[in-house]
Amino acid sequence: MKFLVSDKSISKHKTDTLVLGIFKGEKLEGQAKEIDRALGGALGKLSESERFDGDSGKSVMISSTFGKTGAARVLLLGLGKKSEFSPVVVRNAGYSSATKLKYFCADLVFGEIFCKDRKHVCALAEGLILGAYDFGKYKSSNEAEGEIEKVVLASGRIKEKTLREEAERAAVIAEATNLTRDLVNEPPVYLTPSKLAETALSIAEETGLKCEVFDLEGIKRRGMGGLMAVSSGSDEEPRFIHLSYAPQKKSAKTLAIVGKGITFDSGGLCIKPADSMRTMKMDMAGAAVVLGVMKALAKLKPAVEVHGLISSSENMTGPRAYKPDDVIRAYNKKTIEVINTDAEGRIVLSDALSYATEMKVDEIVDLATLTGACIVGLGMYTAGLMGNNQKLIERIKKAADLAGEKIWQLPMDDELRAEIKSDVADIKNAGSRWGGAITAAMFLENFVGDTPWAHLDIAGPAFNEKDAALNPKGGTGFGVRTILNYIMER
Ligand code: BES
Ligand code: MN
Ligand code: ZN
Repeated sequence: MKFLVSDKSISKHKTDTLVLGIFKGEKLEGQAKEIDRALGGALGKLSESERFDGDSGKSVMISSTFGKTGAARVLLLGLGKKSEFSPVVVRNAGYSSATKLKYFCADLVFGEIFCKDRKHVCALAEGLILGAYDFGKYKSSNEAEGEIEKVVLASGRIKEKTLREEAERAAVIAEATNLTRDLVNEPPVYLTPSKLAETALSIAEETGLKCEVFDLEGIKRRGMGGLMAVSSGSDEEPRFIHLSYAPQKKSAKTLAIVGKGITFDSGGLCIKPADSMRTMKMDMAGAAVVLGVMKALAKLKPAVEVHGLISSSENMTGPRAYKPDDVIRAYNKKTIEVINTDAEGRIVLSDALSYATEMKVDEIVDLATLTGACIVGLGMYTAGLMGNNQKLIERIKKAADLAGEKIWQLPMDDELRAEIKSDVADIKNAGSRWGGAITAAMFLENFVGDTPWAHLDIAGPAFNEKDAALNPKGGTGFGVRTILNYIMER
């Protein structure tokens, strides 16, 4: 997708579709008014007959302008209340334009209403690239042939240099999100732990990041007992992946982002019912976010050192599978009593979190499709946020707001901690049903020592069962933009 600016008169643009906007309850203004006039008032009349009032998410389309203006079509998007206008609204506008037009429009022109400043321009481009995404790889015939090639911003306000910078930035961020979506959408027969590691190595090769991979032997030698236990029921070997980005100048700050990489979660011996097992290829979404983010960092070049850590395994029921009642020893030597083999995510994360802690990073953020309980509590579209450091949590919240990703903090209620006390080991891997997302986070807390740490439970928003705002069915890439914003402190 190529982006250009042009300040010629709005009716002169020759294009497949001209996209304009209107605020809720307001009159057509500026360029939209000019086009409405050229079309003999058609935009106003159509809005009236379709009772379109500029509500966000709604739109009207003039499918043919019959040559009355340069554009073949005009799409008028509702932008919601003028007082609530923000880059988030513009990102959604870009997304919905792309999903509506991508199969039959090779070029688009956007009105200046979308180009208020550089953040709006970046958000528009992000939305467009996210909306153009399509996972067509396994379809023999793909109806999705068309592609948006060129986008022109009809604005005198945006300098070409600004546009170039923001379009580039948007492409890096949106393409990272699309990479994460691809990885989540891949079937588990293809995307195994070793494939995930190969992907990390090829990202490293392509970008110059450093990458270290531990295989079964290396995992065993280092005493990563969590990964050993969870992977024991599978023929597929586990992998521990460590990607790192270092800025040119030695940085004052170091971060670790840690991802759960269960490439398929059958539940293990505590096997899931068939209905709950479907979609469990997405149980590596946290790991996929780590890969997307690391790839983007190599291009965005922030002044922070970032380590991307992934614990990857299948959770299966083979003859050597780990069992309820087993006691296992994590990388930091703490012992874990296995109550439920389906609470495997926290077990593989115990190794990765204690590895990150040993590296003495300044902050740790983990992402994991960790609990069904988090979806019960917050719904499909919102991630749970927990941690041991309120300042860090607030920064993540702010980053998520800017990204247009929904997250909500859950309380680390001290009284609940008793749920995961074990009689035979240091801790047990599951408590009762109540507060399951919180007790899972409390389990993780045992492996980070005093390091400031935040945990995002993305079980709900990582994967969509139906098309939704900003995300198609399937893998969403949720978390990539939040984590990038947090690292870039934008
Ligand atoms: N991967 C699942 C969590 C999950 C559920 C993610 C639904 C996405 C959608 C996790 O490994 C799991 O099975 N958690 C159990 C924990 C329980 C056994 C303590 C759960 O949430 O039921
Ligand atoms: Mn599980
Ligand atoms: Zn799982």
